[in-house]
This record gives sequence, C-alpha cells and structure tokens, in this order.
Amino acid sequence: MKVLGIESSCDETAASIVEDGKTILSNKVATQIPFHEIYQGVVPEIASRKHIEWILPVVKEALKDANLTIQDVDGIAATACPGLMGSLLVGLTFAKTLAWSLQKPFIAVNHMLGHLYAAHLTEDIQYPYLGLLVSGGHSIICKVHNFDDIEVLGTTIDDAPGEAFDKVAKFYQFGYPGGVIIDKLAKNGDPHAANFPMPIIHNEGHTYDVSYSGLKTAVINQTELFWNPEYEKTPENIAAAFQDRAVKILLRPLLQAARDTGLTTIVAGGGVAANSLLRQKLAEQKDLTCIFPPLKFCTDNAAMIAGLGYQYLSRGITSPYTVGASPRVQGFSKKGRRPKKA
Ligand code: KG4
Ligand code: ZN
Repeated sequence: MKVLGIESSCDETAASIVEDGKTILSNKVATQIPFHEIYQGVVPEIASRKHIEWILPVVKEALKDANLTIQDVDGIAATACPGLMGSLLVGLTFAKTLAWSLQKPFIAVNHMLGHLYAAHLTEDIQYPYLGLLVSGGHSIICKVHNFDDIEVLGTTIDDAPGEAFDKVAKFYQFGYPGGVIIDKLAKNGDPHAANFPMPIIHNEGHTYDVSYSGLKTAVINQTELFWNPEYEKTPENIAAAFQDRAVKILLRPLLQAARDTGLTTIVAGGGVAANSLLRQKLAEQKDLTCIFPPLKFCTDNAAMIAGLGYQYLSRGITSPYTVGASPRVQGFSKKGRRPKKA
C-alpha cells in the first residue's frame, strides 16, 4: 500500500511516498531556510507563501522520484496539527483537494505523532516505550502505547528546547537555524566555560516537566553571573556551556520517567533529536535502548507523515475531507491526556 505524505507545518515544504509504512520510495524536502535566514527566525507570512509556490512542484517531484503517477497512490496523508496555521492550511488543503478530486482516502496526521513515527521508518520497535519529542515548538516525554496512542507524562512549562537553541543563536548572531549551528560550535568549546542554572520545578505533578526560559535568560542576559572567569567568552564556549545544560535539563526527567515506568526503550523524535550531545548522552545509558531516527528524519519531513498515514489506512481509519487545521493539540498540555489523531 503506497501513501503520499505531505508536510507543511512550518518552513519545510515536503512530500514523500512510503510503501507499507516502511519502504521510502521518495522523500522530497524543499527548505525555506534562505528566505527566513535574514530574519533569524521563521516569518509565518513568508512561510505560507512559499508553501503555496512549492507544494505542487514538490509533490510532482516526489511522484517522479518514486516512478509513480498519482493514480498509483492508495491514500494521501497530510499534517493537520500542530504548527503555523497559514503553513498547515496550504499542505492540508492541497492534500484534501487532491484526495477528494481523485476519490482517494485522506488521512489527517498529527505532526508530533509523525515525529515519533520517524524512528519506525528504519527500525522495528515494540510498544510500549518511552517517547521523547523535542522540536522547535514542543517538548514531550510520554509513554507510547501505540502509533496513535501516547500518554503525556511531561511537557515544557514555558519554551521548547529548539526554541531555546534558536533564541540563543539569534541573540549571539551565530546564524540560522540555531540548533544545528550551536551543535557544531559546541564541538570546539568547553561545557565548563559557564555553569548555567538547572531549573528546579518544585511543584507537585511537575516531575517530568522541563523549563527552558530560565536557561535562555541566563545565557542571553546574565552570562556574567554564571561565566567561569578562566575561560574566554568565545562563541564555541557559549555554545558548549549552553548545550551541556540544555541536554541535562532534558535528561533528568527522561531518565526519571524511565526508572518510574520501568520502560527500558526510549525513542526520540523531532529536530532537537538531531543534537549530537543528546544522542551521545543517551547512548551512554547502558541499561536503556535509545533509538534515534536518522538525522534527515529528525527534522521536518513527509516520510514520517506518509508512514504514519499508512498505519491508519491499513486499519481502515481515514479522515473526512472536511477536517480542519489546528495550531495546537490540546492533549499535549495536560498530563495523562491522550491526544487524538489530528
Ligand atoms: O522538528 P523540527 O524540524 O520542526 C518543528 O517541528 O519545530 O525542529 C526544528 C528545531 C529547531 O528549533 C532547530 O534549531 C532544532 O530543531 N534543531 C536542533 C538541531 N537540529 C535542529 N537542535 C539542537 N541540535 C541540533 N543538531
Ligand atoms: Zn517538526
């Protein structure tokens, strides 16, 4: 069964065809980075306009790479939430219209469940496991019961980790997008150059939550307070000290959740799952099996949407052509709640 996946929730226009949820026949990602770079962040208006320009050529290229016509496709899946409203609407409306005009099944997909599915594209993973979803807009630690059933244990109470990477990089003019540049700079810096604070979230019920606004403020506005005077204040040292703390903030509740749930497999997803220090630190956990998607499937792509779309379609689950886009997913902000498909 071949599913065409379409992803346009932020600043990547992507289309992919995946067979039986695993075999990637094509994977096209048109990145808008050069258009947002001068603003050091995604400009929603520019993003939606670029999606409109690129969606048709990107889908055509995905079909061409797979050596297929649209008639060969068994279903069309698209991201419906969460993301930038204008961006989401382009891919979703395109996909629904295409599916309706060809009378093909349509599947609306939750982008974050897509990120979780990314690791399943290349590995056979048994449920349940502990999920770590870390991106530019989210930070979710969850118990994963199935491809469409996650139990949220913890979230960020303020900023997402990717957002912290991006804001720090923007402030110090390291370049855009921030995460990948800080990751690179940090390789030549010393994590001990500063001792940035570790947030302590005392309140009951926050055991698995994370917070990034304090770290972001410390790195941007209070560097002197935490800087080790023996170190030169180079971009490499700033990046290394920030990244070290950013990863430790994630690890503490994640490892606590592993101990408390007894789950020994962790599956990561989302742009920040590309971070080399996070990957290294989790690989060092000898009593845990930590699975990361290949780098190209950590950041936004449509293969994860097509793969997840297949899981629904093969069980006879489809969405009405009337399904709408949504910038948020309510279930992600409440512990224990199980968010719906899209
Ligand atoms: O999943 P994604 O592509 O888009 C969202 O759904 O948000 O994630 C993008 C985020 C950005 O904040 C970017 O800076 C971050 O992922 N990112 C990284 C790395 N590569 C991308 N953060 C840390 N280290 C990386 N290597
Ligand atoms: Zn994403």
